[in-house]
Amino acid sequence: MVSSSAVIALFFVAPVAFAFNFPFESNQLKDSDVGNNSDIAFGKLPVDNSPRCKSYPGYEGWPSYDRWSVFNVSLNGALLKGIPPAAACYEGEYKDAAKCAIVRRRQGDALFAKEDPLIPFGQWQLDNPCPVPSLNVTPPLVECKLISFPAYVVNASTVKDIQLAVNFARNNRIRLTIKNTGHDWIGRNTGGGALQVWVHRLKAFEYLPSVQIAQYKGQAARVGAALEQHELYSNMGKANVTLMATGSATVGAYGGFMQGGGFSYVTSKYGLMADQVLALEVVTADGRFVHTDPEDNADLFWAIRGGGPGNFGIVTSAIVKAYPTTTVARTDFNFQTGPISTNSTTTVRVSNETFWKGVSVYFSHNLRINDAKGVMWNFIDTQAPSRVNPERTFLLRNQITKPGVTVEEMKDLIAPLIKDLNDVGIPLPNPEPRFWKTYADYGSPPGGPSGATSSGRFGSRLIPRSNLENPKSETFLATIASIRSFVEEGGYSHHSVDYSPSYETAGYPGSNSAVSPHLRNAVMHMTGYDTTQYTPDLTDEEWKASHARLDSYVQKWRDVSPGSGAYMNEVDTEEPNFQDSLYGRNYDRLLRIKQQRDPWSAFYAVMGVGSEKWKVEGTRGLPTQQGRLCRVDA
Ligand SMILES: Cc1cc2nc3c(=O)[nH]c(=O)nc-3n(C[C@H](O)[C@H](O)[C@H](O)COP(=O)(O)OP(=O)(O)OC[C@H]3O[C@@H](n4cnc5c(N)ncnc54)[C@H](O)[C@@H]3O)c2cc1C
Ligand SMILES: *[C@@H]1O[C@H](CO)[C@@H](O)[C@H](O)[C@H]1NC(C)=O
Ligand SMILES: *[C@@H]1O[C@H](CO)[C@@H](O)[C@H](O)[C@H]1NC(C)=O
Ligand SMILES: *[C@@H]1O[C@H](CO)[C@@H](O)[C@H](O)[C@H]1NC(C)=O
Ligand SMILES: *[C@@H]1O[C@H](CO)[C@@H](O)[C@H](O)[C@H]1NC(C)=O
Ligand SMILES: *[C@@H]1O[C@H](CO)[C@@H](O)[C@H](O)[C@H]1NC(C)=O
Ligand SMILES: *[C@@H]1O[C@H](CO)[C@@H](O)[C@H](O)[C@H]1NC(C)=O
Repeated sequence: MVSSSAVIALFFVAPVAFAFNFPFESNQLKDSDVGNNSDIAFGKLPVDNSPRCKSYPGYEGWPSYDRWSVFNVSLNGALLKGIPPAAACYEGEYKDAAKCAIVRRRQGDALFAKEDPLIPFGQWQLDNPCPVPSLNVTPPLVECKLISFPAYVVNASTVKDIQLAVNFARNNRIRLTIKNTGHDWIGRNTGGGALQVWVHRLKAFEYLPSVQIAQYKGQAARVGAALEQHELYSNMGKANVTLMATGSATVGAYGGFMQGGGFSYVTSKYGLMADQVLALEVVTADGRFVHTDPEDNADLFWAIRGGGPGNFGIVTSAIVKAYPTTTVARTDFNFQTGPISTNSTTTVRVSNETFWKGVSVYFSHNLRINDAKGVMWNFIDTQAPSRVNPERTFLLRNQITKPGVTVEEMKDLIAPLIKDLNDVGIPLPNPEPRFWKTYADYGSPPGGPSGATSSGRFGSRLIPRSNLENPKSETFLATIASIRSFVEEGGYSHHSVDYSPSYETAGYPGSNSAVSPHLRNAVMHMTGYDTTQYTPDLTDEEWKASHARLDSYVQKWRDVSPGSGAYMNEVDTEEPNFQDSLYGRNYDRLLRIKQQRDPWSAFYAVMGVGSEKWKVEGTRGLPTQQGRLCRVDA
């Protein structure tokens, strides 16, 4: 396409970007900034891929102190050393009693990890190498191992900072990692000895009453890549529109969430977060800044939407769809086998057998509710026998959410489910739904941001529509049996969010993206969380045994859903055959795009496209991100 900007470029010496959304994107790296400094030069072909490993602190080839300092000058001083905050609690040059006290006090706070450039929410991925020692533990059980963290962080505030980071890392073969909020469950946001790009401050918002991008015509918004869910709710409220937002207050909207798909409580109506995107501004592996949309750089535009975070480029902003305001209603109820301790009119106590009949009935309404554009959210919790309660107990907690309804319409939607539960002996009333006038109001309940750090692990599975079509079928019964076994024998909680981001719901341009076909066919995303904390005090064997036990129960979910897969943002890092499970038939096309756009392997992500060629060496227990990243094929 001969665009007007290509014509403009003829008249200016410096390259002119196709377009940018925000002022922080107008500050770009120019060839004149690079001069003859080969550390920050843009990527060129051919690529020399002979070294087997990425550069690592302490090894030959690691840039000297002076070169890091020159790099820091080119960044205007935005380079930070990778010192985790808990280092303040340990002997050595970073010891600082006052700082340590703050870290101790704040470590459980969701805002703490989110606002730190180094600390990921998932702690086991770095083998928790610098734990915050509690007050009564002296000396600490383990030392603070700085080498496990990214070595340096670029505290990015402009596109230029990001281009410099990509160029410096690629030219010096340093592992590059990207941290936004740090919410990633599987360690894609961190790596030992890496150069970390911290994009957390790329926040900006502008409502666009009317845009035309390729075949889309309508209202939209420009969004900075680092906006979080709570910020999106407040911005959409001010603009008096609906924008798709994530399910948890501090999760980033357009980082890992969007690039891996991104579901929320309105997904059966509006699709995934990847489906909202109309255009993306991206720093690519060669260090260039490009505009992508359905017509320009269409390969990247396709790949980044659902093809996996942090593997094709660094997104700085997007243009996304906006919709008229919508009402939201939600119905909550529980049923349980244990004594009721809460004062609630929306839970009843039932026998074991009635409980499991109720679980079957509950999921037999999945398709009806999904097809009505509702989303079911539920936990089946279990408590081991205790002194208070000598029997193992079970609890189903449910919320059903639907946009665009009145209270009466919501009651009508839920009534057949309540009737079927009543018929199997679960005497729940049809509860009064909660109601919000707008989605922005729905997203701003009291309570504030959530999500503390953790060292637990996941297993997950996407259940396709065909499993739940006929509640009398073998497949349906086997699906429920696999859930029951997970909870009853495994002793784990079962969680599912039952949503349907079909191709039809995705619309244009969403339906033509790298979002996994398994996700498109799914009506239920099941997860099982292992509360075992994979901490440094457990032996390798204990890590492996806990994981193998969880996986043996997740395998039962896989067995009842052959040909399906898992959702890449909430999955086990040891997911078998991840290429098919996470990407389905898109994998080969994604791999070709990866090889074309990133022949240097400047980007790497756990279970990312092309990651099978790489391995983190020297880790203990199960694979973590705290060693040196090396090729396995050389
Ligand atoms: C409490 C909690 C609730 C969750 N709820 C949901 C939910 O309701 N629905 C759902 O779909 N998922 C949910 N998730 C999973 C979530 O989608 C992933 O954790 C996701 O990776 C978070 O992205 P982030 O950018 O906030 O986090 P980060 O950990 O900072 O980044 C995640 C990944 O994205 C990459 N990345 C981040 N920003 C960029 C960028 N600008 N350009 C390129 N790459 C980037 C990082 O390198 C990393 O690979 C939840 C997670 C948590 C912890
Ligand atoms: C790089 O350029 C500077 C002037 O811009 C010059 O002084 C220096 O010698 C050059 N270095 C190399 C290695 O060419
Ligand atoms: C980078 O420069 C800034 C400002 O000069 C300084 O404060 C910072 O410590 C430097 N970073 C590193 C890693 O030395
Ligand atoms: C990152 O940079 C911003 C702006 O320069 C600054 O306000 C902030 O303190 C920096 N963050 C850290 C952790 O140094
Ligand atoms: C907000 O938008 C809705 C339609 O989407 C409209 O009915 C309402 O009047 C608007 N409210 C304000 C305050 O502009
Ligand atoms: C339970 O809550 C209702 C409504 O708030 C209240 O009227 C009732 O007294 C409570 N019952 C008990 C046992 O606390
Ligand atoms: C219910 O089932 C669990 C395990 O499946 C069992 O431990 C418990 O004793 C049962 N409770 C009753 C009341 O039978």
